[in-house]
Amino acid sequence: HHHPQPKAGKIGFKPVAPNTLDAFTIPEGYRSSVVIRWGDPVEPGAPKFDVDKQTAAAQSKQFGYNNDFVGVLPIPGRSDRALLVVNHEYTNEDLMFRGFTSQDALTVEQVEIAMAAHGLSVVEIEKVGRTGQWKPVKGRRLPFNRRITALDTEFKLTGPVAGSALVKTKADPSGRIVIGTLNNCAGGVTPWGTVLSGEENFNQYFIGGDGVSADAKAKLNRYGFVTATRYFSGSRKWDRAQDRFDLTLNPNEANRFGWIVEVDPFDPEGRPRKHTAMGRFKHEGANVIVAKSGHVVAYMGDDERFDYLYKFVSDKKYIDSKSPWARKHNLTLLESGTLYVAKVTGDSPAAEIDGTGKLPADGKFDGKGEWIKLVSGNRSFVPGMTAEEVLTFTRLAGDAVGATKMDRPEDVQPSLRTGKIYAAMTNNSNRGVGTNAKADEANPRNANKHGHIFEITETRGDHTGTTFTWELPIVCGDPASADTYFGGYDKAAVSPISCPDNVAFDSAGNLWISTDGNALGSNDGLFATPIEGKEKGHLRQFLTVPKGAETCGPFITGDDKSVFVAVQHPGEITGASVDKPASTWPDGDFAKPAVVVTWKADGGAIGS
Ligand code: FEO
Ligand code: CA
Ligand code: CA
Ligand code: CA
Repeated sequence: HHHPQPKAGKIGFKPVAPNTLDAFTIPEGYRSSVVIRWGDPVEPGAPKFDVDKQTAAAQSKQFGYNNDFVGVLPIPGRSDRALLVVNHEYTNEDLMFRGFTSQDALTVEQVEIAMAAHGLSVVEIEKVGRTGQWKPVKGRRLPFNRRITALDTEFKLTGPVAGSALVKTKADPSGRIVIGTLNNCAGGVTPWGTVLSGEENFNQYFIGGDGVSADAKAKLNRYGFVTATRYFSGSRKWDRAQDRFDLTLNPNEANRFGWIVEVDPFDPEGRPRKHTAMGRFKHEGANVIVAKSGHVVAYMGDDERFDYLYKFVSDKKYIDSKSPWARKHNLTLLESGTLYVAKVTGDSPAAEIDGTGKLPADGKFDGKGEWIKLVSGNRSFVPGMTAEEVLTFTRLAGDAVGATKMDRPEDVQPSLRTGKIYAAMTNNSNRGVGTNAKADEANPRNANKHGHIFEITETRGDHTGTTFTWELPIVCGDPASADTYFGGYDKAAVSPISCPDNVAFDSAGNLWISTDGNALGSNDGLFATPIEGKEKGHLRQFLTVPKGAETCGPFITGDDKSVFVAVQHPGEITGASVDKPASTWPDGDFAKPAVVVTWKADGGAIGS
């Protein structure tokens, strides 16, 4: 397939220093600006944000909370205009409502505000001058601008589980139309101009698991639902606004979340879809590549300690054409296909993997892997489970076939330059602890605090195949510490990095990594490194985010002039509130999640 000629190239910026400032810091020679923040208008008619007079109706037209995935999709025929598509993963009610005391004390209106602050935003943006700056288009005619929420947006289920008994409810006896999307974390942009968004920790929105059958309980428990008691601390108590979140009353409602959502931002009236053929788990996100055969392959992680890596191969082939009929066809690609889970083995003797992160004698954490087929269309390959069950209770299918337990697979993305796939294993405090699985070559540190990057090379470059090789190009942490590895590069020249979460590429194929939960004590940030050649592993910190925040996105525009990041949960520190904020970013009053664009002042490529 065609790879654009690299506009980006050598990384040349001077790294920013790790810090604990309540500030967004960038390298010398760069500029940044807030593109859009929580409460800013999205849909026409959105009222001006007022933290003291917030309503669910207002929030349903305003930019939501806790921005995570960021995609920038050029508007065909307009090089100066694009659609910014953003996930809103979750809410921090303590940082959103003055006088917050507990979830139980929230008014129903406040619960509905939180539901409206979840979901996605689609915002038309325009270039500012000739630099890499972008800002929202203002005006009354904004046909693409849209809020998608957990409160009332309708979604269509596609694939083998659509219409099945597992997803039918009192409110939806058809089992095909779901209200809302939950905990949308990372995602990806497809070659046909849509966005994929992962429904991640959807369990936290439900209560009442004690009232369901023993069989249902076992499945709910595998997905982290608390079923011991009816109400429990940590629950968001959304049943107070909509009783579908009470599992005793609506046991199947839980099965309607945990999917990959596809949003077509160019179809503002259309129902977004949840693709059941891609399986149900705590989806971090999904990123696709078109295989040599033309089939579309999506790579996905299930973000839980000891959970799995997956890939989906479409039945149909991508049509590489801008014509409307081709796009219509491509929009159906993720509705049918085959789902695989990864099983990996190391090539070094087990005795050389001691759990400290010490490299084995061959000098590499590496080995082989196999994609185990779970389900293809309506045909299950897991004994004792129907295809519908494999897709709805995919974690149990992975357990049944002996998939490899990984250290929290977050974002997984293929490099369009090399076809290799990069997955962030963010951390796993429980690795090797008690009776839990011990370190193995693919997850080589017990009580893994800092995480690592897992690189997959498909056999003969065939993304539809069932075997691969793998290695760990980066084992994160303090480079001064012996348990880290940076592609063999001189560790004295490398920035410390901890808890990789999201990955992205510039057009030259440099790997960009954002972090969540820096266990080295500094703020989170964004990093860049060459991933091939002599400079492989020469990782440098590109930016840092304010206190309490995690760095999401990132997204580098096709012209390499801009990098967008989402600053998620700034000021998320225990005890902080609207009146006593731990962060006053970005406006100097109280913390607001926001999307920021960074560009080089001289118009050069990001990272140069
Ligand atoms: Fe929402 Fe796995 O991070
Ligand atoms: Ca090895
Ligand atoms: Ca994430
Ligand atoms: Ca994370």
